[in-house]
Amino acid sequence: MIYQLLRRLLFTLDPEVAHDLTIGFLSATKFLLRAVGPRVKGQKVKVFGMEFPGHLGLAAGLDKDARLGSIWSAFGFGFVEVGSVTPRPQKGNPKPRLFRLPREKALLNRMGFNSSGVRAVRENLLKDPHFVPLGINVGKNRDTPNDEAHNDYIFVIEKLYDLGDYFVINVSSPNTEGLRNLQFGENLERLLGEVYRWRRWKRPRKPLLLKLAPELEIEALEKVAKACEKNDIDGVILTNTLKVKEGGLSGKPLFEISTRRLKEWREISSLPMVGVGGVFSHRDAEVKLNAGASLVQILTGFVYRGLEVFNGREGPKGKRP
Ligand SMILES: Cc1cc2nc3c(=O)[nH]c(=O)nc-3n(C[C@H](O)[C@H](O)[C@H](O)COP(=O)(O)O)c2cc1C
Repeated sequence: MIYQLLRRLLFTLDPEVAHDLTIGFLSATKFLLRAVGPRVKGQKVKVFGMEFPGHLGLAAGLDKDARLGSIWSAFGFGFVEVGSVTPRPQKGNPKPRLFRLPREKALLNRMGFNSSGVRAVRENLLKDPHFVPLGINVGKNRDTPNDEAHNDYIFVIEKLYDLGDYFVINVSSPNTEGLRNLQFGENLERLLGEVYRWRRWKRPRKPLLLKLAPELEIEALEKVAKACEKNDIDGVILTNTLKVKEGGLSGKPLFEISTRRLKEWREISSLPMVGVGGVFSHRDAEVKLNAGASLVQILTGFVYRGLEVFNGREGPKGKRP
């Protein structure tokens, strides 16, 4: 109810202004919510050798710089993914770069990895620890060529290794030119091979996931699966946004295709999956679990429905989470 009123107000503003205002407000008042403590909804899940208190998590992109810490578990999320974090700070693409498509229940973004950089993210994480498992999603700086991309990913993971519970190599955002080429052929082999060599003796061992684009069809997925298995990757996140002319599309239009990718991956690999794309309700999350995902993430649904994604009408009453 309160969110609906707030949402109506926020939706009169430019989407990025509304986002920044909300993050700023929550960041300033987070000590109140921290006192509430974690109120995780959903079922416990054991995967990647870890235990998650709830199966519904926050997807990368909403709290890119890890400014909100413990707030997410007070809202009900069972895990949180911050980022994408780049090694050096970068501004991303010129504004406007975030758009609402309310009729489609979608967002269109061409943010382009706006990040405060690894040093600032480290400081933020130290100030406000998370009460639930923390994923750190990593991107490369725009001016780093693809054949050196592994250095960026390794650098960020190394700098934040003690603070994250799992790490994500994001090679699927559509708004950094050439990034998606890292999902294929020699680029992928080099990237995963270098990361493997760096990580082989790293202790404690922490899960490393690869985040993929929804456009990857089964032949491409098969090659990715082989490269993941060879290089000791622990799982995949399916999927990032759908590439359209103006940027990346998220929300309802992504639901079907991202769920199909889960089913296809399940046919070709036993590596665990995190399902993301167009989840607006318990029922949507359930569909992703039934398609083989161990965990589910949400972003656009949370922007449109707020805490109702946990309790809301779109899912059958009384069902999980
Ligand atoms: C505004 C915005 C920013 C995003 N930024 C990132 C990002 O930095 N890294 C990433 O891996 N995914 C990013 N994503 C993709 C989401 O994590 C997610 O994969 C995608 O939006 C599909 O989920 P949804 O339909 O629940 O939003 C972003 C999405 C949006 C809408």
